[in-house]
Amino acid sequence: MSTTVIEATGLVEAAWNVLLALAARRRAATAAAGGAGPGGADTGMPGAAGTSGGSGASGASGASGAASATGPEEPFRALRADADGRAVPAASAAEAWVARDASGAWRRAPGAPAATADTLDLYLPICAPPPRTGLPLTVAHLGQSLDGFIATGTGDSYYVTGPSNVRHMHRLRALCDAVIVGAGTVERDDPQLTTRHVPGACGTRGVLDPRRRLDAHRRVFSDGAAETLLVVGADGPAPAAGARFGQAEVVAVPAPQGTLDLRALLTLLRARGLAAVLVEGGGVTVSRFLEAGLVDRLHVAIAPLITGAGRPGLALPARERIADCLRPAYRVFRMGEDVLYDCALQETHAGDAPLDGDVVSVL
Ligand SMILES: NC(=O)c1ccc[n+]([C@@H]2O[C@H](COP(=O)([O-])OP(=O)(O)OC[C@H]3O[C@@H](n4cnc5c(N)ncnc54)[C@H](OP(=O)(O)O)[C@@H]3O)[C@@H](O)[C@H]2O)c1
Repeated sequence: MSTTVIEATGLVEAAWNVLLALAARRRAATAAAGGAGPGGADTGMPGAAGTSGGSGASGASGASGAASATGPEEPFRALRADADGRAVPAASAAEAWVARDASGAWRRAPGAPAATADTLDLYLPICAPPPRTGLPLTVAHLGQSLDGFIATGTGDSYYVTGPSNVRHMHRLRALCDAVIVGAGTVERDDPQLTTRHVPGACGTRGVLDPRRRLDAHRRVFSDGAAETLLVVGADGPAPAAGARFGQAEVVAVPAPQGTLDLRALLTLLRARGLAAVLVEGGGVTVSRFLEAGLVDRLHVAIAPLITGAGRPGLALPARERIADCLRPAYRVFRMGEDVLYDCALQETHAGDAPLDGDVVSVL
């Protein structure tokens, strides 16, 4: 490995610390606002969160464990990394790596070293304040084959995409406050849903199991690695307040005809102070969120793999005309052998770098 690459890697780690600091800031501001309904939390604005980046692989809430470099009332409008790779306030616009624009969104700033540009561009939208809708910012991710499958017919999905994309998923978990999967994924994969491949702590884990078909021995319910919610349908027997399933808390949301009301679920999560939610699969779960119009950013990583058949990725009700299909604004990132489409589904949300459709980076 050349010196240049080593230095560049250090810069990317420093950029990651800056991103963790922004996520911690959003988390603290949302909590301070009491979770917040529409127009409630002004996340990322002046407040009390620390600004130093976390560097331990399992540090509590990523950057939040480090000392604050700003006072509670001090504006928090620009950050850079210091010589040790820690996130600190930037004294001038010229030295800032990231800065808030007029809309309150975070942008890459001119002081960011070139080696950090791709990392900052990809993840800054996920550090954005949540929309003023009473819902969290929602990011969905799927890794799929060239022919659109996320697993073989037997459910084998280890691994559709390569190590860079797996690390990307862990980064998404670290930046978001919650990660959600469907019962099918827990049944087949028994995932941990932790951030073990990157610095930064995992947020709340949520499993959608309306029919309560999973058992409590699944790792997500028994390993105690993070706060965990079992999401069940409110049409069944109501769980007692504080009901547990293994180590998970049982929460109920309305489920007319067995379909969970995902807007009600997101409202519940936001009321708990969770301002950014990652929907990590599988295909049925991500499709339901998309169909409900509840995905802000859709990440689809396409691997150079042809399975021929298998578990589908996105599947929505049929539309007759191409003109009626979704055609979101997007950016493309190279991620090892895989290509990541980063799609912006909700135009109303601030926080984006321009979406021009270019291939912008190799991560
Ligand atoms: N490549 C990837 O990115 C990736 C990511 C994750 C998982 N996977 C793979 O994908 C497969 C699992 O995916 P999948 O699509 O079959 O299942 P899934 O999305 O993990 O789980 C679907 C199930 O979750 C429940 N559910 C989810 N949303 C719901 C809603 N809005 N209302 C009611 N119930 C809801 C339902 O449970 P009930 O059936 O009990 O009603 C539904 O059948 C596995 O093979 C896994 O390895 C791949």
